[in-house]
Amino acid sequence: MTEDLWYKNAIIYSLDLETFMDFDGDGVGDFQGLTRRLDYLHAMGVDTVWLAPFQPTPNKDNGYDIKDYYGVDQRHGSSGNFVEFMHQAKKRGIKVIIDLVVNHTSDEHPWFKDSRSSKDAKHRDWYVWSDKKPSDWNEGMVFPGVQEATWTYDKKAKAWYFHRFYEFQPDLNMDNPEVRAEINRIVGFWLEMGVAGFRVDAVPFMLETPAPGPKNPVYKFSYLRDLRRFLQWRRGDAILLGEANVLPEETKKYFGEEGSGIHLMFNFYVNQYMFYALATSDIEPLKEALEATRIQFPTSQWAHFLRNHDELDLGRLTEEQRQKVFARFGPDENMQLYDRGIRRRLSTMLGNRQQSELAYSLMFSLPGTPVIRYGDEIGMGDDLSLKERDAVRTPMQWSDDKQAGFSEADKLIHPIIDKGPYAYHHVNVETQRRIPDSLLNWMTTLIRLRQECTEIGWGDWQILEINNPHILGMHYMWQGSSLLIFHNFDEKAHEIVLDLEQETKGKLIDLMQNEESIADEEGQHHITLPAYGYRWFRAGDLSHIMQKG
Ligand code: NOJ
Repeated sequence: MTEDLWYKNAIIYSLDLETFMDFDGDGVGDFQGLTRRLDYLHAMGVDTVWLAPFQPTPNKDNGYDIKDYYGVDQRHGSSGNFVEFMHQAKKRGIKVIIDLVVNHTSDEHPWFKDSRSSKDAKHRDWYVWSDKKPSDWNEGMVFPGVQEATWTYDKKAKAWYFHRFYEFQPDLNMDNPEVRAEINRIVGFWLEMGVAGFRVDAVPFMLETPAPGPKNPVYKFSYLRDLRRFLQWRRGDAILLGEANVLPEETKKYFGEEGSGIHLMFNFYVNQYMFYALATSDIEPLKEALEATRIQFPTSQWAHFLRNHDELDLGRLTEEQRQKVFARFGPDENMQLYDRGIRRRLSTMLGNRQQSELAYSLMFSLPGTPVIRYGDEIGMGDDLSLKERDAVRTPMQWSDDKQAGFSEADKLIHPIIDKGPYAYHHVNVETQRRIPDSLLNWMTTLIRLRQECTEIGWGDWQILEINNPHILGMHYMWQGSSLLIFHNFDEKAHEIVLDLEQETKGKLIDLMQNEESIADEEGQHHITLPAYGYRWFRAGDLSHIMQKG
């Protein structure tokens, strides 16, 4: 395989311009600020940055309501600042992925303004209209409790328009060839600006064509193939990273026949079972989730993550499983959202360093590409006094200076966390840089380690049969080299005995500590895992124990 498939072993860092670094002092993060922080990302070992939407927006949904696809919102700087940022990122070998939010636009987009203006308007059919009130007008909401409908009457248009999300986000009509051509232009535009790919927002909804009245949705997967083809014509190594929280059996259609669809997809399914395992130390469902989402074609890949800018969605768990996760990670009603999620950051949920390390080590070791959420590398907290998902969108804590070194302004887009154990006085980059065993330095080591373990991104894998209900053991194999990785979800230490059918004195090299495990006379390894411990080993060729899934 060639090195061109860079996404197989990338380390993706996700951030929102708004809350990362404010250079011009208006209280909102910007490209000049981010550019000055590229060295920080580079030093951590990050090689790909995913930027949340930064285009002009009324900003009623954290920028996921775009009113001009070809610009930069002036709060974040100019197009010139964007290009400077791209140049500096490239100099450091950092790739940039941006959000492609085309399931819907803002209702302030000129296309929608024109569309609602009259039945004969040029853009009328760019959106989805119904003259009559659809019988299912208040069904299928993505944000139950916050969103009241999916069809809303528009007085100007004298018709009902469809919006899968909030009412200020009208859905584009993807069946309209003019809309598809425009999306290609958007993709082509940003590729020319140097981006390495797109995080495609709300993929399933983008593929459906809503019509009034209840029916089973029809998803047009062929569109993904068309989009992919266009992308690849323009730039051979650009990628699509899809947001599709769907059941495992559905995912194949998104990756496409022989990998002809989306390159990478977030593994929401495994994500939920990771949290279930962390909450209960029962790892059986996680093992099943990993098997259920085994990649079918070698160029396809999962993106694994712990937290993102939304709520932790637990909608795929059973009610009983979900209640267990709520009980452990989001017991107060104020921590929960839309009946199915938790609006907290990783550190506040887990509440201790050991489990944070366990969670990150696990996520980095799963078959796929790891995605880090800004602030998690220093264990930032959340602010539950903010509304909905804003709780997890507070500004980056750089230092213990005023406003955590994020901004000179007195009033910020979201307030800095300045009280309690997660306040910026204690939790910030500058302090953690100086402390050798800080979370930040640990994370930097983990990133380096993951980059050296190409077996994970490329290789075959199997779950090892270990006689212990709390320990997940994974074996990876790539080009004659094996990795064995163990995670102990229990609060107690455990010893496991491994028979790798190696010769006596066969060695396993510990990749994190200056140690090795040597097989005893019977050829067995005795490996100790501390409470919530994890160990990564490299061995020679263990292909004889690999059963292909
Ligand atoms: C998914 C995004 O992650 C979320 O933040 C947004 O609200 C919806 N898509 C609508 O664009």
